[in-house]
Amino acid sequence: MTLILGIETSCDETAAAVVEDGQRIFSNVVASQIDIHRRYGGVFPEVASRQHILSITPIIKEAMEEARVSWDDLEAVAVTYGPGLAGSLLVGVNAAKGIALGCGLPLLGINHIEAHIYANWLTPPLPGGGGGGEPPAGGKEGWAFFVFPVLCLVVSGGHTELILMSGHGRYQRLGSTLDDAAGEAFDKVGRLLELGYPGGPAIEQAAQFGDPAAFDLPRAWLGDSHDFSFSGLKTAVLRMVKAYKKRPLPVVDLAASFQAAVVDVLVEKTKRAAEEYRVEQILLSGGVAANKLLRQEMAQRSDLPVLYPPISLCTDNAAMVAGAAYFRYQAGYRSGWDLDVIPNLKLVGHETRAAGEEVVSRSTDGA
Ligand code: KG4
Ligand code: ZN
Repeated sequence: MTLILGIETSCDETAAAVVEDGQRIFSNVVASQIDIHRRYGGVFPEVASRQHILSITPIIKEAMEEARVSWDDLEAVAVTYGPGLAGSLLVGVNAAKGIALGCGLPLLGINHIEAHIYANWLTPPLPGGGGGGEPPAGGKEGWAFFVFPVLCLVVSGGHTELILMSGHGRYQRLGSTLDDAAGEAFDKVGRLLELGYPGGPAIEQAAQFGDPAAFDLPRAWLGDSHDFSFSGLKTAVLRMVKAYKKRPLPVVDLAASFQAAVVDVLVEKTKRAAEEYRVEQILLSGGVAANKLLRQEMAQRSDLPVLYPPISLCTDNAAMVAGAAYFRYQAGYRSGWDLDVIPNLKLVGHETRAAGEEVVSRSTDGA
């Protein structure tokens, strides 16, 4: 049994969690700054990092208490070191270093995108504390319920990535956004329609009452490429809003039409890549994977099993960081004390060493 403390501060959530064996969540505490950033209509980096400073220690303390474990029970401390906002990442990385040094534990720097992927591996805590039970249906044996190769669509406020995963820690990036991330498009259009921040949940809510066929919005298919583009769609909504002479603006129809356009492109392009690479499963993750239409359409339009985490694990949290860390830990990776934040960190597999990272007694198990 390997208990890992995970820490996440890459954007506007201060989070800490204790997870056993990359799967069973003992605690998962998230302090969201959404209410603070709402007045700016988006994340204000300077404010975010200062807020992390205030929250990080009580959040870690709470995660340890809720998990009912002591520092001696931990085997490693894992922290997101990129991609994300530099000032925000620094707070988490420094906290993790302090704990690792003080407790004599190994430190593991984790890529935020890899963490989002591993949110699919987690099971929720049992009532009254402790780790969760059986893995979701569709699993093979034990908790090896990723049946490789899997295709991961990671869609959040900062990322839209299509990643082919051929094993634990083995990634091939097939495509990504050329401009705005899917969540960023939701946030920008949410602002445009004056629905508030963050735009994703607000648009989803408004769209329930709208007609998705009311407005014919463009879809950027980009030929055979597995890349995405959402800035044209955002501009098309802006033009429609400006050109619409009658008042009030049909906000719910615009929201529904916009959501339908984003989901259509995400689903269709994921489906195409899944067929091309003959994968066994499709896996959704990241904040936008909380979107019910995306979940439904992906499951309906593809013949393959589609996995996605519970909504609370789609958006930023630290359980996913501890989850991803388990597989790196098993593969023998340890970060050095010179671990630095990398705001534009790219996803690399276990085969590539990050700066300052060493591999100790690399096992074949899970690598
Ligand atoms: O993963 P996340 O918490 O942070 C990043 O790593 O970026 O994702 C936040 C993003 C925001 O852009 C938010 O608008 C979007 O996820 N989001 C949604 C929904 N819930 C959150 N987008 C569409 N539908 C949702 N229900
Ligand atoms: Zn995220």
